[in-house]
Amino acid sequence: MITTGPTYEKIDPVRFIGNFSSGKMGFSIAEKLAEEGAQVILISGPSACQTNHPNIHRIDVVSAQEMYDASFEYFPHCDGAIMTAAVADFTPLNPVDAKVKREKENYTIELTPTQDIAASLGKIKSEKQFLVGFALETNNEELNAQIKLEKKNLDLIVLNSLNDSGAGFQHDTNKITIFSRRGEVKKFELKLKSQVAKDIVDELIRNQNY
Ligand code: CTP
Repeated sequence: MITTGPTYEKIDPVRFIGNFSSGKMGFSIAEKLAEEGAQVILISGPSACQTNHPNIHRIDVVSAQEMYDASFEYFPHCDGAIMTAAVADFTPLNPVDAKVKREKENYTIELTPTQDIAASLGKIKSEKQFLVGFALETNNEELNAQIKLEKKNLDLIVLNSLNDSGAGFQHDTNKITIFSRRGEVKKFELKLKSQVAKDIVDELIRNQNY
């Protein structure tokens, strides 16, 4: 199972809080795994990416809550999950049914935390299932990634830093470092996301065989 893309958190019928994730990394990993013969459940937030590989079953969601619900529905039937989605960490507490009108005063939206999907799956995963997370960091990158690996009970975490040019949101390329639960650290060069996907899948297979 793979989660990908951004999530949109509704403010009113015409507005949302989102982020710049394109979904490219998750779609690339889905294609790679499908080419290797895996049956892939791809849970995608709003993304322009397309796939028509017969082994990929795409489930479209919009909000963090919808992604959480879909993840919990499918994860128990999967060998593992790769969490590439840029899930909103906060959502409007009281989305309104009618369009908010322009006013002269400031407008304040109260936000409430969303559930952490990766960490929640980390709590229910079985011995046989693997869980791979992503970390997008701007500072103390390596330390933050290793803390997330522990905290979310992941087997691998893929770090991409917004400080590396050509890495992260919207780009066709990415530059990653993979940390494993066993303490291994592997750094990769800047590559096309399709090639990065191969490195991640290879590393996953190597770890599964360990
Ligand atoms: N993640 C998730 N559900 C959330 C938030 C994050 O499943 N509500 C997953 C992401 O898909 C990613 C990993 O957790 O695999 C780390 O996401 P990231 O945004 O880097 O970290 P956060 O846990 O949100 O922490 P922070 O934003 O404070 O760095």
